[in-house]
Amino acid sequence: MQIEIKQGNILETEADLVIVNLFEGVTSPAGATGAVDKALDGQISQLIALGDCSGELGKTTLLYTLGKLPTPRVLIVGLGSVDAFDGKNARIAAAKAISAAKKTGAKHVATIVHGAGIGGMDPIEAAQALVEASLLESYEMPAQRSNGGDQPRVETLTVVEFNADNIALLETGAQIGRIIAESAIFSRDLAATPSNIATPSWVTARAMEMAEETGLDIRIMEWGEMEELGMNILLAVAKGSDEPPKFIILEHNKDRADELPTIVLVGKGVTFDTGGYSLKRTDGMWKMKYDMSGAANVLATLRAVALLNLPLHVVGLTPMVENMINGHAQKPGDVYKGMTGKTMEVISTDAEGRMILADALAYAGRYHADAVIDQATLTGAISVALGQQAAGLFTEDEALKARLLAAAEATGERLWPMPMFDEYKDYIKSDFADVKNSTAPDRGAGVSTSAKFLQHFIEDYSWAHLDIAGMGWTKKPRPMYPAGAAAFGVRLIVQMLQDWEK
Ligand code: BES
Ligand code: ZN
Ligand code: ZN
Repeated sequence: MQIEIKQGNILETEADLVIVNLFEGVTSPAGATGAVDKALDGQISQLIALGDCSGELGKTTLLYTLGKLPTPRVLIVGLGSVDAFDGKNARIAAAKAISAAKKTGAKHVATIVHGAGIGGMDPIEAAQALVEASLLESYEMPAQRSNGGDQPRVETLTVVEFNADNIALLETGAQIGRIIAESAIFSRDLAATPSNIATPSWVTARAMEMAEETGLDIRIMEWGEMEELGMNILLAVAKGSDEPPKFIILEHNKDRADELPTIVLVGKGVTFDTGGYSLKRTDGMWKMKYDMSGAANVLATLRAVALLNLPLHVVGLTPMVENMINGHAQKPGDVYKGMTGKTMEVISTDAEGRMILADALAYAGRYHADAVIDQATLTGAISVALGQQAAGLFTEDEALKARLLAAAEATGERLWPMPMFDEYKDYIKSDFADVKNSTAPDRGAGVSTSAKFLQHFIEDYSWAHLDIAGMGWTKKPRPMYPAGAAAFGVRLIVQMLQDWEK
């Protein structure tokens, strides 16, 4: 979708459809909506009086202009109550509007900016919200159809603003929104691409292209180097596949590492999770192509951080492996010693995410970071606990927790704190190693014990773990999240990083 900002009068705008808006409780609209109302002989006011157009958040009403305006269609989107209006509601309204516009078959859509008028929103933030939500809502997963697909698509979105003084601010906001949305889309594309294409090597090639485009520093660790580092827990997973593992290291502001705060982001990159010898059941296994959502998010976040040029030293670490079965594959009962020198016993080869993260988190220790945050589609148990309402947040650092929760609140990418009681350590005690990777057959506290396992490998830094298994793949569409790969976590972490020094 092309996005352009234009100074002009909405009444003179030529497009297949024009979007205006309405707050709840308004009986005679002002501003652009008021101008359109007048041009349509009070149609909007009449609909409001009839109760057919209430301004309820995200509700849309379609009108035909019958030659009274250059555009054949006007779509009114509700902004909800003025008091509750914020960036989240602006995004919901924009997403609902573009989705309704698309259904009409309109190719060229023009819109006013939601909320910069009586909504009182800063024009930069308002434009960011509009562009971000429109792009995310219009996302289509990559598909390989011989007929190219037949969905209607909005090709151009023109943002029309009357006040010439605001244009530069809107351009700035639109640019930020575009960077963040396109980064999330980069993550969605990686997670949705089938694993016969999206192997560790393929993802690495995409990361290298992206680094080239954005100026990020990139280094790839191959098997040999991981072996030298003693990453035998990670390699235990990798050795079951014919696809070589890759460990991607991306860095923004590497040359200023000493003067800037350092944040390390770690992402689980299992390009496909069969479960290994602890084989998964058939139904739903296809979806395990998104078991690299954590890694995809980290690559995408680094992309955004570079393009926004945030004044931070940010490192992205993504161990990429495929969890398969061959003659070398790990087996239940195996014991491995990782990079920290600590040992673990394999109870389930399907608890592979925590294994690759154990060595990646050990490696993260090298950066002496102000914070290390990992994202992983780690457990089915987190969806049992939270459904598709929030990702699980595990941390014992109150300051980091506050930062993450603030970003979650601002972006609507909700997190919910989960416990890491000391007693859970007993659950993962092993008779043959320091810890075991699963409590099976006992299924109690499956989420907390996974976090406790990770914590065992953390050495002396501030750390948070996000379990995004429930949120990584949208089942029931929500505004900005069409069904499928969600990139849940990208907007969240970018927001946290933007606010880091505030
Ligand atoms: N990738 C899965 C977790 C998962 C499940 C992600 C469903 C998305 C949707 C992970 O590797 C896994 O299999 N975890 C096991 C852990 C168990 C063996 C301790 C699980 O959740 O069952
Ligand atoms: Zn698994
Ligand atoms: Zn997995």
